[in-house]
Amino acid sequence: MDNLKTIRLGVIGAGRIGKIHAENLATRIPGASVSAIADPILSAAQETAERLHIPVACADYHQILDDADIDAVAICSSTDTHARLIVEAARTGKHIFCEKPIAYDLAKIDEALAAVEKAGVKLQIGFNRRFDPNFRRVRQMVRDGKIGDVHILRITSRDPAPPPIEYVKVSGGIFFDMTIHDFDMARYLSGDEVEEVYVAGGVRVDPRIGEAGDIDTAVVTLIFKGGAIGTIDNSRKAVYGYDQRVEVFGSEGMVTAFNNTPDSHVYSNAEGVHSAKPLYFFLERYMDSFIAEMKEFVESVQKDSPPPVTGADGRIPVMIAMAATRSYMEKRPVKLSEI
Ligand SMILES: NC(=O)c1ccc[n+]([C@@H]2O[C@H](COP(=O)([O-])OP(=O)(O)OC[C@H]3O[C@@H](n4cnc5c(N)ncnc54)[C@H](O)[C@@H]3O)[C@@H](O)[C@H]2O)c1
Repeated sequence: MDNLKTIRLGVIGAGRIGKIHAENLATRIPGASVSAIADPILSAAQETAERLHIPVACADYHQILDDADIDAVAICSSTDTHARLIVEAARTGKHIFCEKPIAYDLAKIDEALAAVEKAGVKLQIGFNRRFDPNFRRVRQMVRDGKIGDVHILRITSRDPAPPPIEYVKVSGGIFFDMTIHDFDMARYLSGDEVEEVYVAGGVRVDPRIGEAGDIDTAVVTLIFKGGAIGTIDNSRKAVYGYDQRVEVFGSEGMVTAFNNTPDSHVYSNAEGVHSAKPLYFFLERYMDSFIAEMKEFVESVQKDSPPPVTGADGRIPVMIAMAATRSYMEKRPVKLSEI
């Protein structure tokens, strides 16, 4: 480990997730350093740079791409910029970590993946839940055959509160914004590919979400190529907090991962038996996974090994989101081969 080169990164986008990745790369990832951070909202880049002692804060990401001393970029800007930034970063020979989703459109994704292939750089997509210790354990048990043939996979994924309506309007819809993580988990946990999707969805949380053209409640049924059946249930509002549970059931047994809580106390009194609510939201619940995914990205650059979440892993959940959107609109099962 000591002989490995330090990887110098530029962070593009200093919003919610950009700040997290910048902090992890600057302070928690061995073998990584952050040389620059860019955001058109210059004050956001400057505040993060100052706090983390990052030497350069700039408004224009080209300053990062033009810096020959920077080895890799972390693309943390809004989704509509990802595909273009991947193409430009690949052309300058930078390795790329890019937040999910790559784009809402397969042609743009394919253009980005072709640029990566041509440049021979690494691309890792930010499906951080694969790095969560609970879900890794579930995956390991399925891979080791402990569950036998997988028959049923269940994912519960409910947010503690809906995002602002302005965010909903540009989010691409619940399947691209929220369920995309669950589509990735379905592939990761089962080790199988989704063949068909059927959705029942509605607006149960906030009518303004419906007026913005989206839904806030959904049950997605997945049929896998190997025959297993999966369900994902989503809500934009669980009053008891961020609800993130999975279960895989098969011919040899079942494995379940429950919510993480800040502590494990259980208090009993005349009113009932009480315990802590789940960790509030993704920043709290998935902090370990954000660190682990970056650690593995940096290692894949240092060791010239394949990144653990590939461009193809970024593309397929977008196809599943497209099938889910069509299924909801047309009220019928949709095969991925139709996309
Ligand atoms: N993996 C996860 O759990 C997770 C969590 C949150 C967000 N995300 C993804 O991360 C991305 C950003 O989300 P967010 O919540 O941080 O959004 P945000 O709105 O808080 O931040 C986005 C930032 O990108 C900046 N930006 C826009 N265009 C830019 C450009 N050309 N160059 C540099 N910066 C630019 C904006 O000014 C803004 O500061 C989205 O694609 C989202 O889907 C992933």
